[in-house]
This record gives sequence, C-alpha cells and structure tokens, in this order.
Amino acid sequence: MGAPREEFSSKLGFILAAAGSAVGIGNIVGFPVNAAKNGGGAFLLMYAIFVLAICLPVMMAEMAVGRKAAKNPVGAYKALAGENSKWGIAGLLGIITPFMIAVFYTVLTIWIFIYLVMTVTGQLDYLASGQGFGEIINNPYYLFSSMVVVGALIAGILNFGVKDGIERAAKIMMPSLFIMLILLVIFVLTLDNAVSGLKFYLIPDIDKITPAVISGAMSQAFFSLSLGMGILVTYGSYISKKTDIEGSAKLVAITDTSVAFIAGLMVLPAIFSFNPNINPDELSDSSVSMIFVFLPKIFLALQTSIGFFFASVIASIFFLLVFFAALTSLVSIIEVPVSYFIDEKKHSRKKALRTVFISGSVLAILATLSFGLVPFLTKFVAYGGADKSLFDVIYDMFYDTILPLNGLLICLFVTYRWKKHNLNAELSEGNDSFGKSFLAKYVDFSLGTFIPVILALILINTVAKIYFGYNVFG
Ligand code: PHE
Repeated sequence: MGAPREEFSSKLGFILAAAGSAVGIGNIVGFPVNAAKNGGGAFLLMYAIFVLAICLPVMMAEMAVGRKAAKNPVGAYKALAGENSKWGIAGLLGIITPFMIAVFYTVLTIWIFIYLVMTVTGQLDYLASGQGFGEIINNPYYLFSSMVVVGALIAGILNFGVKDGIERAAKIMMPSLFIMLILLVIFVLTLDNAVSGLKFYLIPDIDKITPAVISGAMSQAFFSLSLGMGILVTYGSYISKKTDIEGSAKLVAITDTSVAFIAGLMVLPAIFSFNPNINPDELSDSSVSMIFVFLPKIFLALQTSIGFFFASVIASIFFLLVFFAALTSLVSIIEVPVSYFIDEKKHSRKKALRTVFISGSVLAILATLSFGLVPFLTKFVAYGGADKSLFDVIYDMFYDTILPLNGLLICLFVTYRWKKHNLNAELSEGNDSFGKSFLAKYVDFSLGTFIPVILALILINTVAKIYFGYNVFG
C-alpha cells in the first residue's frame, strides 16, 4: 500500500472545493443565457424543481459511493460491485467523460482568458464588434499562449494535491468570486430598464414551459452541479467518515444555484437595459460561440451611461470572475483521471498529472483547431443534418448524451447493485438522524423509480434530436 489517501481538511474545505467544481462557466454564462432564451421565469422554476427533486439525490449518491469506496470512479464501481463486474464499464465512463469534458471546457476557459486580457487592455469594442470573436478563435498565437498560461495554473494547483492545492485554491477564489458578483449585480440593477429584465426573469409564465425548456433546464442543472462526471465520486473519496453528506450536498446545491441565480440577476437586467425592446426569441440561436459574441455587446452597451473606461472595468471584473470559476471547475474535472492513475496504475501524483496533461493537451489543441484553422477538424463529420467540428462532436457526445447516461447508471447502480440499505448506511455516517428524515425516504424511493425514468427520457430525446434531427416530444 502507498501513502494513506489524501483528505480535505474539513467539511468546509470539502464544500468549498465541491462548490468550486460546480460553480463555473455554466453558472455565470450558461445559466443566464439559457434563462433568457427559454422564457426567463419559466426556466428558473423548472431549474429549481430539478435541482431539488432530481439532482440533490443523485449528488448524494455520488458522494456516498465515493466515500464508501475511497476510490476514483473505476475503482469505486469495482470495489462495490466486484472486480470483474460489468459495472466496471460505468466506472470507465466516469473517467473518460470528465477527460473529454475537460477538453472542451479547456477551450472555453482559454477563450475567457483571452477575453479577460483583451478587456483589461482596452479592447472591449473590438470584442463586441462581432468580428473579434471569429478572429480570436482562429489566432494560433493567442490560443497557444493562453493555453500555456491556463495549463500552468491548473498544473500548479493540482501539483499541490487535494488539501494544499484544490482546497486552498477554492478557499481563495470562491469568496472573491461571490463578492465580485454581488457588486456587479448591485451596479446593473441601478441601470435604466433593469426592472423589465427582472420581471421577465422572476415572474414565471407557465405557458412558456415546453418540452425544450424542460429538457434544457435539466441538462443545465446536471452540468452545473457537476453530476454524471465522476467528480463527486472522486471528491467524495477524499472526505472523512465524520462529514455529513446530506448537509454538504445541500450546501453545494444551494451555493451553485445561488450563484447561477445571482448571475441571472446581473445578465438579464443588463440585456433589457441596453435593448429595452428586446424580443427574447432573438436569443434563440443557442450555440456556445454565440454567447461569446453576445456578452461583450452587453458590456459595451453600458458605455452610453458610464463611459468606455468603466464599461471595460465592469467587463474585466466579469471575465476575471468567470475565469476563477472556470479554473476551479477545470481542476475538479482533471482530478478525476489523475486520481484514476494514482489509485489504479499506482502512479505518483506528478506522473499521473503528466500523463493526463500530455494526452489532454493533444486533444485540446485539436479541438481548438476545429473552429476553422484546420478544415479536416472543422468539418469533422456530419450528422443530424449538419456538419460538425471535432469540438461539436465532443460537446454533443459527452455534454448532451453521456452526462445523463452516467446519471442514469449511478441511480441504477446504487439501487439495484450496491443496494439502498448500503447507501442509507453510508449517508447516515456522520449524520445519525438521517435515516429517519423525510429526505432519506425520498432518496430511497426516487433513485430507483422516477429519477432514472426522467433521465432516460431526456437521453432518448437528446439522442433523437442531435443525431437524427428528430424531436420526440415536439
Ligand atoms: N459545473 C461546472 C459549470 O457549471 C462545469 C463542470 C462541468 C465542472 C463538469 C466540472 C465538471 O460550469
């Protein structure tokens, strides 16, 4: 046996690290933009229901599996199901998924970093020009220099390990992120017309709840809470038996949802403020890159009231905040394959980091080149009636398809293989009264019944839509 398994120093350290994973580009950029596109209040309502009714039990299950096995996802499934069980495949997916998500998340983080540098150096107007984004993502010099900076920061954090790296980074970055966000919201709410944005966001219009809104809210909630990716299994493997999982999971879910909600309080009023007659349907083009074209426009529009300099200051704070959030998320995604190599292949942390970084960088470089620089990667394959780049393929496959599949698998695993009394016993460690709570009964019932059914329906709908261009639910 090697050294004893690393642990977070305290419950707070674990919660901050898990919240650092959960709070990311998805909260600060993805959530508000999705809410704006999908009916504002209607989306918010569905999202809140999903977080409580579906994501919280799945999150608790992931943490419990991780802590019980004290292993990475491959090791965890094997430890609880038996060395040669077919569940090992689910474990493997739990390693490959974060690895591939890290690839596309790295690309986004690099873009955010370039945006940050450009806004700080007074080029917000260029970013907002529409042409800026297209040029940036095809400028090898910007891309590779930023990749080196982002890579060095991540490697630096992970090299220090769980307590001194992951936990410390989260303890510094998460509170600063929260403070910056609140300051931005206060500022945006003082703008003209902010109130119409608030109304659109906070008052649900039930008619707007369509199958697309439901499935969008579900995918967003899953991704945002970092579920289905082996992350909470891995982080769960670093917590002590004294830590109460239920309380921790609730706090992570609350933090993540609050940050998304508050980011909405900033972005939606800002949109309405610079364009009072906006028709939210105009936002309907949902590609990831559209968001990057759109954001600088919101900030630049602020110059009519506060001037270019202060508009740039506000934008810089925003991109710095997103960059922090992205770093702590990226750290958590990369820790999963790293922990796999440490546990299963007996690598040292340094060697595991090297393996993951070298292979990940090759893929991230290829994905970065797939926005036009290399035609073969840009038009990589065609399905669902459209040409897809390598980036699109990774995104469609892992974000949209395999995430709900992994969620489905963990529900089935804890219910039918590991068995619910074991789950219940694990959740009661560090929380004696858990067994008698309402939540215990709810988790016990839902994980084996309607949660997997809903996840399966979402999976079927997504596969039909993405790969066959067919809408199952209209
Ligand atoms: N949850 C993070 C976000 O909302 C992203 C993330 C995805 C982090 C997957 C870890 C794993 O942006």
